[in-house]
Amino acid sequence: MTKVNLMANGPLIVIGEHTVTHPDGSTEVKEARASYCRCGKSSNLPFCDGRHKGE
Ligand code: FES
Repeated sequence: MTKVNLMANGPLIVIGEHTVTHPDGSTEVKEARASYCRCGKSSNLPFCDGRHKGE
């Protein structure tokens, strides 16, 4: 089963295989785990790069 964890003041973490559909329609499969940015500060959107922690 794929699980989704919402981290307080941080990313949305998806654990388990899932397919990401990007705004341009391209897709990619994540095999195990991925962290998705919810703050909009990541330089690697849609993925979290840790910038939500501040600099
Ligand atoms: S949630 Fe981590 S960089 Fe946005």
